[in-house]
Amino acid sequence: MSSTIASPALTPQVTLNPGGVKKIQDYLTLSEQQLADRIEQARHQLGDRVVILGHHYQRDDVVAHADFTGDSFKLAQQAKTRPNAETIIFAGVHFMAESADILSGAHQKVILPDLAAGCSMADMAGLEQVESAWEQLADSGITSLLPITYMNSSAAIKAFCGQRDGVVCTSSNAVPLFDWALKQQERLFFFPDEHLGRNTGVKFGIGLDEMAVWDPRLPLGGNTVEQIQKARLYLWKGFCSVHGRFLPRHVDDRRAEHPDLKVLVHPECRYEVVVKSDLHGSTEYIIKTIKEAPVGSEWAVGTELNLVNRLAKQNPDKFVTLLAPDLCMCATMFRISPENLLWSLENLVAGHVVNQIKVDDETAKWALVALDRMLDLQ
Ligand code: 13P
Ligand code: SF4
Repeated sequence: MSSTIASPALTPQVTLNPGGVKKIQDYLTLSEQQLADRIEQARHQLGDRVVILGHHYQRDDVVAHADFTGDSFKLAQQAKTRPNAETIIFAGVHFMAESADILSGAHQKVILPDLAAGCSMADMAGLEQVESAWEQLADSGITSLLPITYMNSSAAIKAFCGQRDGVVCTSSNAVPLFDWALKQQERLFFFPDEHLGRNTGVKFGIGLDEMAVWDPRLPLGGNTVEQIQKARLYLWKGFCSVHGRFLPRHVDDRRAEHPDLKVLVHPECRYEVVVKSDLHGSTEYIIKTIKEAPVGSEWAVGTELNLVNRLAKQNPDKFVTLLAPDLCMCATMFRISPENLLWSLENLVAGHVVNQIKVDDETAKWALVALDRMLDLQ
């Protein structure tokens, strides 16, 4: 008989030993050095058969083993351009691994080393809720409407957009994709990040009073029919549990401490924070801006802690600090660890694919339409 073992720190996942699958428990007591050495050894044994993609928010001891690091957009591109790898190990979160599965070839398998590495924002938009919202808008007389979903959404939401001439965007390309979308239809419905949607919409002259926030728990999303008919941009009421915590007072506090400091934030931050900042942009933009900044410049960065700490280490000639000193990392990104990375790799060496992420064919077909539309518009 088989059983499943769950550990609070390094989630579950394997059925005990059917045909020799290695157990995650055996990896939890290894030293940092043993883990690093064995990861490199397994990578060497697997050669080009495996590629490890790592998001910038991953911890240093995972990033150290990635073949490619990037933001959501760059990693989606990478997933499409590695046809020789039989397996893609995604050091990131669930929606990224799903996108990699959709974009990679049919012969390729995608592994997420910890199945509990999800994204609270992506979980805020369920397919049935989005379908219901779409119907309620149609019943309110809204017809010329295009759906855009942020990359941080389930494959089912991406498929919903693909079926309705919609598109996916990331924080790197939200502006050109809004530009394209507004040429297709009069109104946009953006899921699931209210803040990225608002921060992008204002760049196109859409007034705050022309945006309606859609709360899926309420009839008509919490709006009146008049508000719905006035709006040009509907914003799903979702947010990032990391970026949503930065507040305007954090900008004021940092500036009071360091009068010459510049504030640089991710567009998943609230509008009130973005308007107070000096600069805002995607993860790649943040990295490039700090790298190219003058020696001696001072920066408070409003994004994920692991990335900010890495930027501080990589730029010792500049002062780089987190915008809010008391905020923590993305807990789900942090679930990917050297332990479960090694466990995935050594199982591959032994011929076992663990924690495979597989999107069903029908969902993948339509999600690919929306993802390819994004990639083609670049
Ligand atoms: P990007 O990688 O697009 O900057 O998104 C940030 C993020 O929160 C990923 O989960
Ligand atoms: Fe999701 Fe925010 Fe974590 Fe990104 S940083 S994975 S958006 S919770």
